[in-house]
Amino acid sequence: MTIKNNEIELNDEQTKALNYLRSTNDNIFITGNAGTGKSTLLNAFLDSTPKKIAKLAFTGLAADNIDGVTIDSFFAIPYNCMNEELIINIDEASMKIKLEVHAILIDEISLVNCFHFQMIDKSLRKYLDSTKPFGGMQMIVVGDFCQLTLEATKNFIERKILKEHGGVYAFNSTAWQKANFQNISLETIHRQEDSELKHILNILRDNVNKLTYKDLALLNSNVREFAFDPTAICLCSSNKNVSAINNTYNKIFQNDTASKSYTATSKNYKGKKPNDRVLTFWENQRIMLNKNLYIDGELKFVNGCLGRVLYIFKDEIVVQFDNVSKVTIIHRDKWENTQLLLQDGHLMKTITGTFTQFPLKTAYAITIHKAQGQTLKRVHIINDEFFAPYQFYTALSRVRSLEDVSFQFPVTREQLQTSLEVIKFYNNLQTIDLQNLDISTLTPIKPVKLGYNPFLDEPKEPEPKKVIHDPLFDELEDVSFDNMFNISFN
Ligand SMILES: Nc1ncnc2c1ncn2[C@@H]1O[C@H](COP(=O)(O)OP(=O)(O)OP(=O)(O)O)[C@@H](O)[C@H]1O
Ligand SMILES: [Mg+2]
Repeated sequence: MTIKNNEIELNDEQTKALNYLRSTNDNIFITGNAGTGKSTLLNAFLDSTPKKIAKLAFTGLAADNIDGVTIDSFFAIPYNCMNEELIINIDEASMKIKLEVHAILIDEISLVNCFHFQMIDKSLRKYLDSTKPFGGMQMIVVGDFCQLTLEATKNFIERKILKEHGGVYAFNSTAWQKANFQNISLETIHRQEDSELKHILNILRDNVNKLTYKDLALLNSNVREFAFDPTAICLCSSNKNVSAINNTYNKIFQNDTASKSYTATSKNYKGKKPNDRVLTFWENQRIMLNKNLYIDGELKFVNGCLGRVLYIFKDEIVVQFDNVSKVTIIHRDKWENTQLLLQDGHLMKTITGTFTQFPLKTAYAITIHKAQGQTLKRVHIINDEFFAPYQFYTALSRVRSLEDVSFQFPVTREQLQTSLEVIKFYNNLQTIDLQNLDISTLTPIKPVKLGYNPFLDEPKEPEPKKVIHDPLFDELEDVSFDNMFNISFN
């Protein structure tokens, strides 16, 4: 689980990659297996770059994790819109305001489909009035195509559009082909130290046919019946299973302890509600934070942190986040619909609607989509349903060792689907040779102003910082879950 504001020492390849990033205005694609520290590198870069960077992601959760906004909201794309005209004919003035940035960063790029990636290129070329790829804007895209893609659309017209634009993945688009990305691949896996798990994860990415019966037997030695064990989070492929498991836990445990319900207030809030209108909490309930949490102006816990409720009050819920010694008091929080406006040469967010509710959800189960990007202490994978490509890999790669995972049913080869397209893409990917990169030849670059940009002040070069967020689990590896729950589950 990611907790910000602690220190982590970048390894050699991350340090070289960071220096490279700071020295270039080229388009960059940062990739690497799950747990190789892509997000860690990204945070280090964002902490130390003098560039103004628009931080975007396709889903709200992925956007929240980098403290950014969704691609839809930045480019004013109507929700899930696949209509080209609607997308690139947005208000020109507001687009120009948004382009007061030196670079656009997209995290979890595997979630962006090829049509939307193509539209980003088209919009940027239009509003920057340039025929260059992405209108000359530097694009930094980060992610691993061997993890989940956006859910495959069942809509025939949308499928047709994707086909016309080359395929499902962003790399299928002509925009990607023309962008001339410099590719950085991180190789050292930080999340797992368990060599057996690393071996299996590598095979699940590259070629499932190489998975021997011994490997499969090893995996399947982790099959366990579903047990009410709140120390392990259930990872499901569908929201239906998530709700069923959370509701079952609710029914069993809610009556045992005092519980309270909290109703949200909403003012002109547009779009999907970020949390339930009525939430019920009780003592000892497992919960997940579903919004970044700032304490005294500092980002302390990111969306997705797990923990349990200690006490419930009318206006406060006291939470113990996993592996954090201090308790945290949670208040109601506000989600906002915002618009970007320019005031006195600065980009300002204007609030157009609000939704107020506690930023917590029951979390005995979450979807694998929600778990993408996270490090989890113990998981139980509900693998009864059809699995999309790399779904199992994404779930399995959340934990540090094979001991930390169990499955509902024996894993079948059908559940370990890969994508030939993705494998081919990675086989052909030319990456920068980080091992032999001489960083003394690299000089930090000044941000490049785009031609028409009248508002931008010369940015000051900040002191390079070596400090980035912390692998809390590394420090607290020895914390035992046994001591963290004083409820009995018999
Ligand atoms: N240099 C490092 N030293 C020690 N731990 C590290 C280092 N870099 C990353 N980590 C830790 O390894 C884990 C995985 O890192 P991170 O989440 O950045 O990987 P990722 O490549 O973004 O993974 P994913 O593909 O799952 O999103 C985290 O717990 C992180 O704190
Ligand atoms: Mg990540």
